[in-house]
Amino acid sequence: MDNRNPLTYEAAEIQLAELLAQDLDQRQNYDHYSTDDMYTWSTVFSNLFHRAWPNRAHPEFLDGVDRLRLMYHIPKVSAVSNRLQELVGCRLYFVEGHTDPTTYLLSIARNYFPVTVWLRKPIQIGYIEEPDMVHEVLGHAVMLSNKLYFEHHRRIAQVFLDIMKQAPMSTVELLAEWVARFYWRTIEFGLTRDDSGRVRVYGVGILSSAEETIRSLEPGASHVYLPDDPHLACRMLIDESYELDESGNYTGKGGMRTYYVVNGFHHFHTMVNALKDVITKKLAQEKLVPIG
Ligand SMILES: [Fe+2]
Repeated sequence: MDNRNPLTYEAAEIQLAELLAQDLDQRQNYDHYSTDDMYTWSTVFSNLFHRAWPNRAHPEFLDGVDRLRLMYHIPKVSAVSNRLQELVGCRLYFVEGHTDPTTYLLSIARNYFPVTVWLRKPIQIGYIEEPDMVHEVLGHAVMLSNKLYFEHHRRIAQVFLDIMKQAPMSTVELLAEWVARFYWRTIEFGLTRDDSGRVRVYGVGILSSAEETIRSLEPGASHVYLPDDPHLACRMLIDESYELDESGNYTGKGGMRTYYVVNGFHHFHTMVNALKDVITKKLAQEKLVPIG
């Protein structure tokens, strides 16, 4: 998610209504995909499925790929949306480029998720910075098909909305940045232990890139193990600002992305449950909202 230029709640409601009014099939315009696009999707899928995900993706993610019946051909986003609706009650809607954080999180809280439908070029098969349809479908949609994960994803959005309703607009940008830091370091680029204690990937920004999935678990990768106390873990995620590399991409210290490791999905869920309290206290500590 992007943390820039949050709209007011009322403006986001209008924006979301306009976005939801669009027809997904019409916006995807399936017949216009080129043979290059077909090649790109099937190669990306094959690289991820056969090379990157085995022994690296969390088993819950791999179950989601089956649940959504994703394969070597470009999916119709409306069909993925229908399947997600059956599984967890979530619908996809079309966006072009970035949405502001209020609209993005408002849609999530209302059981929608925004997707773009453009595809990377063949030269970008291994990695691309901008989110494309691979990221949205072979990343976000897959994880969202897990009922418990979906509920916690929705709760993160609700935390932002609950606090923003009571905060002056002047602090909403900062609030959006803190929520974005949490979202970025868990939903997008998080690692977790599986049931046998091995570190696995659940962050969809990693899992939608074969190169990054492999790189994130290599011996030299920078891993930070989050403390069991969910309040402390949340503070670690939201206190540290992003560092940017020379191309303006978010990285960790030393020009390398730092991956934060949660101790299983239960740990992640306790962190989501603590998030509202942690952010409320941080706002009060920094005297940005009245205490109580
Ligand atoms: Fe994303």
